Amino acid sequence: MNTQIYKIDENDISIEGKNILQRAGEIIKDGGLVAFPTETVYGLGANAFNKDAINRIYTVKGRPSNNPLIVHIADKKDLAKIVSEVSLKAKKLINKFWPGPLTIILERNENIPLEVTGGLETVAVRLPDNNIARQIIRYSKGFIAAPSANLSGKPSPTKGTHVIDDFDGAIDMIIDGGDNDIGIESTIIDLSVEPPVILRPGFITKQDIEDVIGLVVDPSETDAENEKSPKAPGMMYKHYAPQAKLILVEGSKDIVINAINEFVEDDSSNGIRVGVITTGDTNSYNKKALVRQIAENDDIDIIGKNLYTVLREFDTYPDIKKIYSPTFSDAGFGAAVMNRLTKAAAGEIINVGVSDSRRDIKTVVFISDEDTSRGPMACAILKSCHEMKGMNVLSRGLNVLFREPINAKVSEVLKSKGLDLGDYKSTELSEEDISIDTLYITMNLKEKIHILKKYPGVVYIFTISEYIGEKDDEVMTPFGENIEEYYKFFDIMEKKVLQMVSVRE
Ligand code: TXA
Ligand code: MG
Repeated sequence: MNTQIYKIDENDISIEGKNILQRAGEIIKDGGLVAFPTETVYGLGANAFNKDAINRIYTVKGRPSNNPLIVHIADKKDLAKIVSEVSLKAKKLINKFWPGPLTIILERNENIPLEVTGGLETVAVRLPDNNIARQIIRYSKGFIAAPSANLSGKPSPTKGTHVIDDFDGAIDMIIDGGDNDIGIESTIIDLSVEPPVILRPGFITKQDIEDVIGLVVDPSETDAENEKSPKAPGMMYKHYAPQAKLILVEGSKDIVINAINEFVEDDSSNGIRVGVITTGDTNSYNKKALVRQIAENDDIDIIGKNLYTVLREFDTYPDIKKIYSPTFSDAGFGAAVMNRLTKAAAGEIINVGVSDSRRDIKTVVFISDEDTSRGPMACAILKSCHEMKGMNVLSRGLNVLFREPINAKVSEVLKSKGLDLGDYKSTELSEEDISIDTLYITMNLKEKIHILKKYPGVVYIFTISEYIGEKDDEVMTPFGENIEEYYKFFDIMEKKVLQMVSVRE
């Protein structure tokens, strides 16, 4: 099929542009499919009363046919023509937010075919705040069923080029109206239940809605996973996930940047190519990653507007296997942005901690491989510092096959310094050792990454060099060397541990 593609500026529609929009509307009225911009994302429109056209939408998108569509109207009075009753709450919301990014769900009437509602007795309706969209709707005679104009399984399109990538040759017409203002799909509120339920967060927030109609329920706040709620059919389907595994990294900004750089270093050394999503300066990041700036600063409106573009871009690099992204504020519109980002990451979030938790530490755990030399030595040194009074200081291993006494030469050196660990036996790190008020100190980066990934509860972890602000030189045990080397080893370790104490002050 030859797809007609036109560029039109929403704010400056020429006579010729108007003619094109009229043709677009007529194509839809006559059963064709046209993609057009809205203020949220692009929609793929069909005549809401034409069952064949509706079925074609499902076919070209590859969308399950019981996932209902939103009906788009251009005039508020048209709502009453497709629902059984416009409730008071609906009226209040419409007066406040239409035209705009709010979709409301009400009982349908018999004018709306079940093909549109996926068999449900309710219908989702919205009045978009975009001149191009509204004109096409009017020319089509008023009722356009339109899902987002992406192939099922891809992020919603937020640029004309995204729609062209997905549907050139498959639909009748594409109107490229430039970048969408919001970039995240509309808020959906189900008014067919009491209290009303927010089925999908969007630019219009729960608070915005409650200011107008009082209490509403947000399933993401109760733990009711909306995936399981039969009330939100669209949410049951597998969500967009980038080809690469997306991993969110949460914590204070500086720590997050360091952690992402370490993950990149580690993945790269294993031959894995990675991408990074960032706000602000891309130069803070490890050059081994493909870094994409989603916004210049943490302006959540810009982050939301660019989210799908950035995710679509990573999908064009098949060799990238992992993408790291910081989390963003979930206040206001951030709730919608984080909702989409978390779904794209399939819930994978690594918490790397917050900088100011330093003050509340109750336990310090030194981590080493076997917990027989470096860890116990560091532990003995730190314990002996009077500044550590009242603090638990422990050592743990990552590979403890049998509980063993500490290395004989380490033990000899410690005794000569008056630091005796008694008959301590190596102990493997376990879930019991994980708590929010514990500081974990590893001997090297590999151990740190291993723990971060295995124990989501670990929030405050550093390599010993990192903690004292040195570049990462690992202290190695002088295995097989004579006792003199063990004394030197002690001196190096002691210097680092004492520095840990001064860093804390
Ligand atoms: O911003 C938007 O809403 C965009 C633009 C194009 O308007 N549209 C959009 O449509 O995001 P779509 O099809 O990608 O998402 C519509 C969502 C689906 O999750 C669907 O399950 C839900 O709305 N939905 C539609 N009708 C429903 C109903 N009667 N009950 C519950 N959920 C419904
Ligand atoms: Mg969609």
